Amino acid sequence: MQDALFGAEAERSAALALLALQIEWGADEGLSDLGIDRFALAETEPALPPQHPAGEHAEPSGAMAIAVGAAPLPTPAQASPTRALSRPTAGRPAAAQAAALAATAGTLAELRAAIAGFEGCALRDTATNLVFSDGNPEARIMLVGEAPGADEDRAGLPFVGASGQLLDRMLGSIGLDRSRVLITNILPWRPPGNRTPTENEIATCLPFVMRHIALVAPDILVLLGATAVRALTGQTQGIRRVRGRWQALAIPGLAAPLPCLPTYHPAYLLRTPLAKREAWADLLALRERLAT
Ligand code: URA
Repeated sequence: MQDALFGAEAERSAALALLALQIEWGADEGLSDLGIDRFALAETEPALPPQHPAGEHAEPSGAMAIAVGAAPLPTPAQASPTRALSRPTAGRPAAAQAAALAATAGTLAELRAAIAGFEGCALRDTATNLVFSDGNPEARIMLVGEAPGADEDRAGLPFVGASGQLLDRMLGSIGLDRSRVLITNILPWRPPGNRTPTENEIATCLPFVMRHIALVAPDILVLLGATAVRALTGQTQGIRRVRGRWQALAIPGLAAPLPCLPTYHPAYLLRTPLAKREAWADLLALRERLAT
């Protein structure tokens, strides 16, 4: 099957998938008889104006001067060097407690139970449900988002609201669905009002998500949005700068660094349709990587 993805067949299947994705995303009406080469236009387009979206899944403004589409996509072989994960728990007793608990979990069920019993994060008190993960724990691909929203909090499952529906369509456009991925978040509880998670909440819950990744041991990690990137890689350059660039992440408990692809958060894509072009490039990079 992998071989068939190469050459003309790969191009044909990419074109069909792009068409399907465009229709899914609502581009189902022709506005001109002539096609527009938007990749050529990108070279002359000005950088996007700064945005300071408030509330859920706001992307950071660190890379505002980067023109859309300006960065070349590195291949997996060009991935940046391994970046060891570390977030000191000194001075953060809740994070130290989470790290100790996480280390005792030898299975996903044990990890879920450990998180459910953890009282070191106040979000647990305001949330309706713990949101652990959804999908296939044996999947090759693991996706990490930011934090549950209202729908996820109600359902106890990640990405079931509007951004989850977009995520499903994005996965579908490259032939994936939830039986082929495992989805989780940096935070297992909803921040009240969908506010941006605090540094302290992230540091406290990080040992759990790192253990989650180690227990699943996927082949590929996809980081959805700036919060997941910042939390897991420590990088703060802004999602526009890092998206689409493969990295190798060292996860404690895993023998080898994990290939990791940062991309936009679906909630950001819902607000920023222009960014869907880059998200599509990231999806193709993911599909290509899967075929190797
Ligand atoms: N956004 C996220 O980051 N995670 C969810 O589960 C839902 C929305």
